[in-house]
Amino acid sequence: MSLLDVRGVRKAFGETLVLDDLDLSLDEGECVVLIGASGSGKSTLLRCIDLLEVVDDGTIHLDGQDITDPRVDADAVRARMGVVFQQYNLFPHMSVLDNVVLAPVRVHGVPRAEARERATAMLERVGLAEKAHARPDDLSGGQQQRAAIARALVTDPRLLLLDEVTSALDPELVGEVLDLLRALRDEGRTMLLNTHEMGFARRVADRVCFLSGGRVLEQGPPEQVLENPQHERTAGFLSRLHT
Ligand SMILES: Nc1ncnc2c1ncn2[C@@H]1O[C@H](COP(=O)(O)OP(=O)(O)OP(=O)(O)O)[C@@H](O)[C@H]1O
Ligand SMILES: [Mg+2]
Repeated sequence: MSLLDVRGVRKAFGETLVLDDLDLSLDEGECVVLIGASGSGKSTLLRCIDLLEVVDDGTIHLDGQDITDPRVDADAVRARMGVVFQQYNLFPHMSVLDNVVLAPVRVHGVPRAEARERATAMLERVGLAEKAHARPDDLSGGQQQRAAIARALVTDPRLLLLDEVTSALDPELVGEVLDLLRALRDEGRTMLLNTHEMGFARRVADRVCFLSGGRVLEQGPPEQVLENPQHERTAGFLSRLHT
């Protein structure tokens, strides 16, 4: 069974049907990148998976559990996922270390000393050991984003969801986040992310999914989808990016 299984998901906002009978599954250790036009529903899909939005129809299974069942404890489900957004959302009044310590202590009930140990190791892992006691505002955008990734990873989530984590960064800072995500992929982290940068998608994805018309219209290895798209709409989307 897949680690994540999205089946027939439908989500509308008022009259706007955003996800329409969408299917998507992720195997353990896979890194899947969603691409598609602005407004095609990439963020909405991630928000549905993280239970920040309630689906209108369909199901989402995580490790075999139907997390869209209204009886599930949404907080407990969310505790098994790590989420990183475009804006890093670090608490500005806390040190980087305290930002990373927060979830293990508050959500997972890890004793503070142990949480600090884990957080310190995670900051080292993302190359920020020397910034542990700095305030987020004193970090570069790339460093803040790596801190946000450390915060998402410190609870050892089953699935990492990343929504345009490089789009707010200056181009020269994108590389350090890309390198980190590639390393996490190589360690076997299961990741679902979206991006507008096809170079980024090509370098990190095991599989690229093109969203259009509320569903995954085309998917496959990055070189196939990005260089030899089978569907006219995928080709059209990609060619507009190059003009
Ligand atoms: N909370 C909301 N209320 C109303 N409409 C919404 C809401 N969230 C998203 N939408 C609409 O749903 C559609 C899909 O939005 P979404 O943010 O998922 O697209 P996206 O693919 O992530 O776009 P982008 O690439 O610009 O980030 C858009 O038409 C958007 O206006
Ligand atoms: Mg979006």
